[in-house]
Amino acid sequence: MAQDVVVSVQHVWKEYIHYHHILTSLKEVVLHLPRLARRLRESRFLALKDVSFEVYRGEVFGIMGHNGAGKSTLLALIAGVMKPTAGTVTVRGRIAPLLELGTGFQYDLTGRENIFLNGILLGMTRRQIQKKLDDIIAFAELEPFIDEPVRIYSSGMLARLGFAIAIHTDPDILLIDEVLAVGDEAFQKKCLKKLDALRKEGVTMIFVSHNRQQMEQICDRILHLKNGQVQRIERIRQSHGAEPTATTATTTDHEEHTHHPTRNAH
Ligand SMILES: Nc1ncnc2c1ncn2[C@@H]1O[C@H](COP(=O)(O)OP(=O)(O)OP(=O)(O)O)[C@@H](O)[C@H]1O
Ligand SMILES: [Mg+2]
Repeated sequence: MAQDVVVSVQHVWKEYIHYHHILTSLKEVVLHLPRLARRLRESRFLALKDVSFEVYRGEVFGIMGHNGAGKSTLLALIAGVMKPTAGTVTVRGRIAPLLELGTGFQYDLTGRENIFLNGILLGMTRRQIQKKLDDIIAFAELEPFIDEPVRIYSSGMLARLGFAIAIHTDPDILLIDEVLAVGDEAFQKKCLKKLDALRKEGVTMIFVSHNRQQMEQICDRILHLKNGQVQRIERIRQSHGAEPTATTATTTDHEEHTHHPTRNAH
């Protein structure tokens, strides 16, 4: 993998098996075995079909597409929370996945406790989290609620907390799925400003959004997904990552994980 490539997705296929079909047809095992076998075949669904692309260090990369196009699936594969059915996903660096809303939160724990929980899940030590705790709470603007259980938080408040945690973990690669869409306008503005600062520091970002205008504003390139296939990759602007900056030159700790093809993954 070339030195400046931080995410490489090569000929990735993702097949889901829809278990509910199988469960509802369990009765048929006794009665109609051939029909069940046919149902099993029918219940496989290809969410990604031969998807290939590379993301460069320091780039802001967008993924757009209609509902069900496979965007969240693609992010989950990059985050390493799922394995591709075929093909390889190679990631170089520390990833902070900010996947769909609410994932990673324990609803009975307080906001503060969830910061520790998520920080640790994202690879921080307790001490590192302690040092950033005030900044995280302040960024999320949740001071009055931080010792309340997050089950009383609104979806916008949860999104703010998740976002604040992720950007304070010093990631090399930040994955953001639709999160900006949830916060209110003032918070969105603040996030965009913060993301711009992170991009200037050389953090690579991969975004999923339906908001074309926002995507054009922040992304260097946008991948358009349709029914699990890459339609095209559109260049919006030259990325910061293209120039050798101080940040890229001093990055030494490369950590790679590759998901190899497996027919058993779902
Ligand atoms: N865990 C799963 N099991 C079975 N099918 C799934 C699973 N997750 C996603 N799918 C299916 O895969 C397809 C792609 O889903 P995905 O969530 O990646 O789409 P998306 O582009 O993120 O959509 P949205 O814009 O609605 O968030 C959908 O048809 C969905 O039903
Ligand atoms: Mg999605």
